[in-house]
Amino acid sequence: MEQLKKVLITGGNKGIGLAVVKRFIELDYDVVVVARDFSNFEFKDNKKVRCIEYDLSNMTGLKDLAKEVGEIDTLINNAGYMQPKYSYDNYPLEAKEHIMNVDLYAPVELMTLFCEDMKKRNYGRIVNTASIAGQIGHPDIWYGIAKAGLMNATKIFAKLLGGHNIVVNCIAPSPVETDMQKDNSEERKAEFKKAVPCGRFAEPQEAAEVIVWLATACPEYVNGTTVDFNNGSYVR
Ligand SMILES: NC(=O)c1ccc[n+]([C@@H]2O[C@H](COP(=O)([O-])OP(=O)(O)OC[C@H]3O[C@@H](n4cnc5c(N)ncnc54)[C@H](OP(=O)(O)O)[C@@H]3O)[C@@H](O)[C@H]2O)c1
Repeated sequence: MEQLKKVLITGGNKGIGLAVVKRFIELDYDVVVVARDFSNFEFKDNKKVRCIEYDLSNMTGLKDLAKEVGEIDTLINNAGYMQPKYSYDNYPLEAKEHIMNVDLYAPVELMTLFCEDMKKRNYGRIVNTASIAGQIGHPDIWYGIAKAGLMNATKIFAKLLGGHNIVVNCIAPSPVETDMQKDNSEERKAEFKKAVPCGRFAEPQEAAEVIVWLATACPEYVNGTTVDFNNGSYVR
């Protein structure tokens, strides 16, 4: 079967996801974007782009969301957030459940739902956006835990789906200049900048280059991997 060239990008309305959307439009993909707010989304009237308003903390609606999206051969699980205002010992249950839904359970469920058509087509590419937080830990402990879980899920999905020519990878960025940085304290940002050899945070386009490469051109022997994206600030 031919490649479909249809991609779902969660959180594609801004930040890293928006940079990914731009690259896929250039590659002439049909692009579906899922997020909660498209009021400032520059591609909302683009013919190649479909916007679906959806809150990914709503786990029970994911099956219907998948039906609405239809068949895709490329999935970019990019949406995510953190809430460092909560400390490990004062983290409301609802806040825990919310972040685990958005940052871990929904991405895993979307892989589960969308891989069925990919299997039939015998082609698929999935890229998950984790974080360095999942490798080194984070003051928002549930953010770090969710991202670590996503890296782990990447490994097992690569094994489960590899026989169907479906390649599943992950990226673990250190800080990137997006709105998300508003949630990080000035102290933590300054500390991080000192640890980055190039002395700056990454631009969203740089992360997008890696994500799009993993989703399009990378050899299938790169599978189940988490690509470190941190300019040597965390060398393993
Ligand atoms: N920036 C960094 O320093 C950094 C570092 C490592 C990893 N990351 C990861 O990179 C990914 C993209 O983040 P970013 O830096 O581009 O931040 P961003 O600009 O704040 O974008 C976050 C995206 O996630 C979407 N999103 C958040 N909650 C959602 C929900 N409940 N339902 C649906 N969509 C939701 C947002 O759209 P709406 O708000 O419109 O829903 C937005 O598109 C995230 O997974 C983040 O954890 C970022």
